[in-house]
Amino acid sequence: MKSFYFIGIFISFKIYAQSPLFIPDTLSGSEINLSIKEGSHSFYTSYNTSIIGYNGNLLGPTIILHKGQTVQMNVANELNDTTTTHWHGLHVSPQNDGSPHNLIMANTTWSPKFEVMDKAATYWYHPHLHGKTMKQVIQGAAGMIIVRDDEESKLNLPRTYGVDDIPLIMQWRTFDTNKQIVLDDEADNVAMVNGTINGVLEVPAQMVRFRLLNGSSHRFFNFAFSDNRNFQIIANDESLLNKPVSVKQLIVSPGERFEIIVDFKEQQGQSFFINQLGMSLPNGYPGGPPLGMMGMNMTMGPLDNTDFSLLKIDVKAPTPNAIKEISSSLTTNEPINESGATTRNFQLRGLPMMSMTNFTINNEQYDHEKINFKVKQDDVMIWNITNQSMMPHPWHIHGNYFYIKSINGQAPPAYMKGRKDVVTIPPMNGSAQIVMKYEDFADSEMPYMYHCHILSHEDRGMMGSFLVTDANLTDVLNNITKDITIKVYPNPSQNNWQIESTSGEPILFYQLCNIDGKLIEEHSIKNTSFLINNTNLSSGNYFITVSTKQNSQIFKVIKQ
Ligand code: C2O
Ligand code: CU
Ligand code: CU
Repeated sequence: MKSFYFIGIFISFKIYAQSPLFIPDTLSGSEINLSIKEGSHSFYTSYNTSIIGYNGNLLGPTIILHKGQTVQMNVANELNDTTTTHWHGLHVSPQNDGSPHNLIMANTTWSPKFEVMDKAATYWYHPHLHGKTMKQVIQGAAGMIIVRDDEESKLNLPRTYGVDDIPLIMQWRTFDTNKQIVLDDEADNVAMVNGTINGVLEVPAQMVRFRLLNGSSHRFFNFAFSDNRNFQIIANDESLLNKPVSVKQLIVSPGERFEIIVDFKEQQGQSFFINQLGMSLPNGYPGGPPLGMMGMNMTMGPLDNTDFSLLKIDVKAPTPNAIKEISSSLTTNEPINESGATTRNFQLRGLPMMSMTNFTINNEQYDHEKINFKVKQDDVMIWNITNQSMMPHPWHIHGNYFYIKSINGQAPPAYMKGRKDVVTIPPMNGSAQIVMKYEDFADSEMPYMYHCHILSHEDRGMMGSFLVTDANLTDVLNNITKDITIKVYPNPSQNNWQIESTSGEPILFYQLCNIDGKLIEEHSIKNTSFLINNTNLSSGNYFITVSTKQNSQIFKVIKQ
């Protein structure tokens, strides 16, 4: 009896040793400057952990945008590595999307400029370099984007950032004994919110909005409060819901966002915890109980299949003009008219089935040189995604939202009925059906991506690309080869590479980089063809980026 009591004291002591929840700064306006670089972060007192991050911080600034504004993003790459910065969820052209095709070489700045066309909701940004997305994200490079619009601004909702409107970026990481981040590890041994382990947050005794983002590489959160209270979901990935939906638990998959409202009006002076209920996740979900097929234990991390506290909440005095009730009607999500829709099937597999190393979509791994298919702008598309593997896969598309038609043949829950860009396909022959329409940004060269948002799956092949082509083109659905306007040859080569613009559009600029993204040379030119002499280069792989007025293409070349 005595020792039991002692353990009880020990545990509560451990839980209360907490630091204030970190709230990232905000950036807004027509020009947003980000630089991705190395830095350090103190996850544990008296340890400095090396990280990379936007503006040097573990989580970059929260970018606040307003629908209808034009924004220029300047992303300076101060790493010794190539990167990209993807605006996850924003409706932008493929050139501005920050996909694996929009490389930012070391010591260069990428400056996409676009109109914000999205509805008010919570979006995010993160690197998306093929094969290195997980590495760069778990090292710390990610941030939140909040889009506001006139419709949302008129509603009775909390929206004072950091006061009654709080970002909660939930992540898992693995630390070694020196408290350095372990890369390429799937055994995540620590969960955190906004980079704070065992954080504490003071909230006012009123309606408080939390913007939940699961920015983890693998694991799912099953989010709940320690008093098992109800909370109201008001938004999912890319829009408000038509009406708030009340729940007690909410599963948030990697890449996914929800906005929730919690009523603390009557609770000044009280404390709560936000908990992870890992034991109640469905079987096979990373973070939850193992699937347990054939006696295999698929649990990989020490916190998998456990329940624990993520964040302590202390309720303080309300603010002046506190929001006491929220609007009961939020927006109208107009269904997509499905007449004439085309259907496309995707099968997700791990090869072999138990594998943690090779993931495929329709039996193919991602090929950066290939466009998987084309669709026509304005076509209504229904995608059926089925999962032949033992793990769930959070399916994500770029550049547009979709609506979920069904999950395992059932209508989705009410809190997934807004505009979405992530849907989890359940394991063991689970399925989902989504419907979408790409109405803007036709492009004959630059694709959009679709992929699993478990970052190691994405890096290991569970990704594809497709072109949204002009509605007036006739060959679109059959012709799946990339339209080449720039050729680089011979490849491999011993003496020089010939660069040629086959469409006759002059080449304005080229860059030659090594495989790590280090710049070797760059030149302005104005010609439809030229030679790069490579006799002095050591043999190996290089990247050549060639830019015309219309586009920029990157080629992987081999010096023999
Ligand atoms: Cu969050 Cu393709 O990305
Ligand atoms: Cu994305
Ligand atoms: Cu996956």
